[in-house]
Amino acid sequence: MTKKVAVLIGSLRKESLTRKYAHAIAAVLPPELQCEFVELGDLPLYNQDLDDAGTPPAAWTAFRATLGSADAVLFVTPEYNRSIPGALKNGIDVGSRPWGKSIWDGRPSAVVSQSPGAIGGFGANHHVRQTMVALNSPVQPGPEMYIGGSAKFLADDGTVNNDQTRELLTTFGAAFAKWVEANAKR
Ligand code: FNR
Repeated sequence: MTKKVAVLIGSLRKESLTRKYAHAIAAVLPPELQCEFVELGDLPLYNQDLDDAGTPPAAWTAFRATLGSADAVLFVTPEYNRSIPGALKNGIDVGSRPWGKSIWDGRPSAVVSQSPGAIGGFGANHHVRQTMVALNSPVQPGPEMYIGGSAKFLADDGTVNNDQTRELLTTFGAAFAKWVEANAKR
């Protein structure tokens, strides 16, 4: 059965390498996974007062509804100062509230990090994992995906120009499809 995957990208930058990799992964996912790219840039910063008053911003409500209808979530993120970019953490926080209505609860996820540097965004990857485990999302344990030296493996048109990287992304995608099938709620 077809499953919907919400793809969250941790960079707001127009020429984002992360976005290019997110599209490269979407292109090699098995056909039973349908990707929907969900934008984080328009989400107001989380403020519990607005939920408590019953006046959440429309962008939060739409985000929660979109994520709530997804079978799984794929995080593709750069690393900011060895951690999660603020825009992505804000999206996770918005989705986690109001208390008791977290859209992450029980929803399978996987994390890909990328960096032009050598460590491949390891710190960001594990901070996303730590947060999602706390939110009771079954986070795909492996294969892990840290794309180091990421700028080298992208052609000018944004596609992956390296066979080994493409193979790794394909292997990751196949494992993610199995993870979603095994852990999705429906
Ligand atoms: C970075 N960058 C970075 N890279 C890294 O490997 N570890 C890090 O801790 C950081 N920290 C960091 C902080 C901030 C505020 C910025 C803007 C950048 C560099 C980062 O990996 C690089 O700019 C990527 O290209 C960002 O991803 P996008 O925007 O290309 O998707």
